[in-house]
Amino acid sequence: MRELARAAPSSFLVVVPATPPREHLWTEGEARATGHSRSDAALARFAELEAEVEGEVGDENPMLAIGDALRDHGPFDEIVISTLPKGLSKWLKVDLPRRAEGRSGSGSRTWSRSRRDRRPDAAPPSADVPARRREPRRARLSLPPERGSSVDIPQERKVVTEIPGPRSREWFERRATAVPQGVFNTHPIVTARASGAIIEDVDGNRLIDFATGISVLNVGHTSPAVVAAAQRQLELDTHTCFHVTANEPYIELAERLNALAPGDAPKKTMFANSGAEAVENAVKIARKATGRQAIVTFDHAFHGRTLLAMSLTAKVMPYKQGMGPFAPEIYRLPFAYPYRWPGGAERCAEEALDYAREEIHKHIGEENVAAVILEPIQGEGGFIVPAEGFVKGLAEFCAEHRIVFIADEVQSGMGRAGRWFAIEDDGVVPDLITSAKSLGGGLPISAVTGRADVMDSVHVGGLGGTYGGNPVAAAAALAVLDQIEKEGLLERSRTLGEKITGRLREMQDRHKAIGDVRGRGMMNAIELVTDRGTKEPLDGQSGNAIVKRCLEEGVVILKAGTFDNVIRLLPPLTIDETLLEDGLSILDEAIGAGTG
Ligand SMILES: Cc1ncc(COP(=O)(O)O)c(C=O)c1O
Repeated sequence: MRELARAAPSSFLVVVPATPPREHLWTEGEARATGHSRSDAALARFAELEAEVEGEVGDENPMLAIGDALRDHGPFDEIVISTLPKGLSKWLKVDLPRRAEGRSGSGSRTWSRSRRDRRPDAAPPSADVPARRREPRRARLSLPPERGSSVDIPQERKVVTEIPGPRSREWFERRATAVPQGVFNTHPIVTARASGAIIEDVDGNRLIDFATGISVLNVGHTSPAVVAAAQRQLELDTHTCFHVTANEPYIELAERLNALAPGDAPKKTMFANSGAEAVENAVKIARKATGRQAIVTFDHAFHGRTLLAMSLTAKVMPYKQGMGPFAPEIYRLPFAYPYRWPGGAERCAEEALDYAREEIHKHIGEENVAAVILEPIQGEGGFIVPAEGFVKGLAEFCAEHRIVFIADEVQSGMGRAGRWFAIEDDGVVPDLITSAKSLGGGLPISAVTGRADVMDSVHVGGLGGTYGGNPVAAAAALAVLDQIEKEGLLERSRTLGEKITGRLREMQDRHKAIGDVRGRGMMNAIELVTDRGTKEPLDGQSGNAIVKRCLEEGVVILKAGTFDNVIRLLPPLTIDETLLEDGLSILDEAIGAGTG
């Protein structure tokens, strides 16, 4: 058989036994084509199979003949034979019921046991139903399995080279010529793989991840349940576009979010791909629902990088500099930032609210305001928890004047702040909520969830997009919601968050540079200052030195804040406590070293 495999060097064969070891058995050509090596166990099994099918191979395309022969020597879950089109290492894989076979346009053939066949209690297919109708033909492009499966990296910090190591540096040289500088990198390292709370870089260093892709991995990197759900969906349907034919995960995820969002009124959800898109859609919906144009946003706010979202965002550099003109009818008000409120934290909520009401009345006109958009806990602005009463007061003002109140929970949602949505702690039911980031557990998906009457104010065809609610991302999101529920991650976010706050306060006692410790759930931050009395922000370079030192010791950390002086912590909600403490100790040392 090996002779025959050699006779067709551009083809490859993969056999997936139904029983362990479930290693994929590769022919020589396949191993070369995809860069995979074969394990001894796989080779041994392959040799057994060779013996079994010896003499059964006919004289048609040898690889197809091998597949034919192997089929009868199962049990196998899959046999894939593919011709590499013009040397591209891409598989075209066509699944058919075990007894049937088919040929793809590019000369591939697969024999695969159907899902139904794999279930022990599966009913035998009825003989009078044509095979095509019983088991619909499915076609898919797939990557070699190793690349798609979840990895399990030991949950410990391990520094084996200087960081960045030589391979990361090599990649960054290539990156400098291939990728524009405007697309920033906080850390000059390249990820090879990630699991739980650990990122392994291309040099083999294992880093504790306190950044989680900017709050995207609340359930941890490559969470097995999320990976499995995405893989399952990849095999069923990757995309038909919801506007062409709907898909089950989209509808189910909408139902789940409608049930999770605060408030008893009927709700509806639409999906998009990024946080910025969710924000854009929320504004469109609010304008249609009210027939008004003005949007009120806040100081220190971040809502994304598309034109409207960028216009809603506060900080000029780096987000907006030189990129105007900005979208019109956007009005910015002070946010109730207790640490820096001129009149003091105690008067912050009341004064900020008075100012907002008066400003809207005098300079915009309540009847012209379509929406007030606010992050219940500001993210990029520096993890600012607004003074108690501010959010509730604003929501009441909005209700009184029929203004749509939008809670942007892109960063604070999905358990990060200890609840599904941070605004729950304010006792407020927003009209619309935007979510993204941790919703997809690493796959791009965002949502606008809101009161059904508001959501339905947009005419048919007024909302959507090609990829919005992609079934793979939606299936992953359903697994994220399940995991948060099953593992009690909301509760864990609150209890572990308290421990983190306690630890940060204890650091504050020792490091004068820590002016403020704040946060809720596991959305925690410290604000660095040169002087606690004047609250002069610590300069960006000194903060960067702390972040760099953490990285060199194997901890990935992010800054935030209008003044670039906030260190924020976004570990997975699933992080092991020992690992968390290890990372915090590194941060503690780095602050000591960086600020004296
Ligand atoms: C509160 C908030 N809204 C919107 C966005 C934009 O999300 P995206 O980067 O997915 O467009 C972000 C991103 O950090 C965010 O924190």
